[in-house]
Amino acid sequence: MKKYLVIGNPIEHSLSPKLHNHWIKQNNIDAMYEKKLLKEIDIEGIIIEIKKEKIDGINVTVPFKKTVIPFVDQLTALAAQTQSVNTVFKKNNKIIGDNTDIIGFELALKHINYDVKNKKIFILGAGGVVPSIILTLKKLGAAKISLSNRTKKKAENLKKIYSNLEIIDWGETPDFNMIINATSLGLKIDDEIKLDYADIGPNKLFYDVIYNPSQTNFLLKAKQFGNQIANGKMMFIYQAQSAFKIWHNILSKIDNETIKLLDE
Ligand code: ATR
Repeated sequence: MKKYLVIGNPIEHSLSPKLHNHWIKQNNIDAMYEKKLLKEIDIEGIIIEIKKEKIDGINVTVPFKKTVIPFVDQLTALAAQTQSVNTVFKKNNKIIGDNTDIIGFELALKHINYDVKNKKIFILGAGGVVPSIILTLKKLGAAKISLSNRTKKKAENLKKIYSNLEIIDWGETPDFNMIINATSLGLKIDDEIKLDYADIGPNKLFYDVIYNPSQTNFLLKAKQFGNQIANGKMMFIYQAQSAFKIWHNILSKIDNETIKLLDE
């Protein structure tokens, strides 16, 4: 039986096992997918297990998407460009680090028919998933990308890689067509992001990478003020579908049943 894992810290709330095990069963694959709480010091040991084929693949989540890089043999072009790995596998005796968050975000935007071309985008946060979001937005032809993070230094570090990025002080709001919450603010039901919704005006797209809760205060308020909203559920599903394709070479089905699986 093949064995797959998602590693992270915390990991308790990860829905990856539910989704992957659903597809594994649906496709009659002899495999299992589990979650594992890790410390940074444990990463090397896990990679060795992939080398020894005791584990067949891993997904990597917060906070290890970058930390895992020194332990793999090779990065795909996308993982190298973003310095972010969320999917690991062995190929031709080498351990490969790949990134499926990029395609996940692209397909999620396609899913809601949102055309990024020539749009002004404002990103909140500078954590692990942000380089993948920036790369997708650039590829899709965004006119301008602004970014704000509580710890400004982290935003400035991103600007070293993506020179066109406009850095905004935390608490300030530039003009935008689409705003993306890529912070962890919203995971707790009472979390608020300070924004002047009245001033921002209606008809913008508010996108939250968080999908649990399904409507953060950021999205709830945006809707009240007449904006379009989307949570990170489809991004999560599409990144998983892409990892599944890499490991099993099967395009898994995304239908209402799959989507409902993630409603806890
Ligand atoms: P990591 O930074 O380890 O990759 P992450 O969950 O991907 O983890 O990122 C967390 C993001 O949420 C960061 O942008 C973080 O801002 P800091 O860089 O200043 O820590 C942001 N964040 C978390 N709690 C926040 C809060 N209370 N207010 C504002 N931003 C917050």
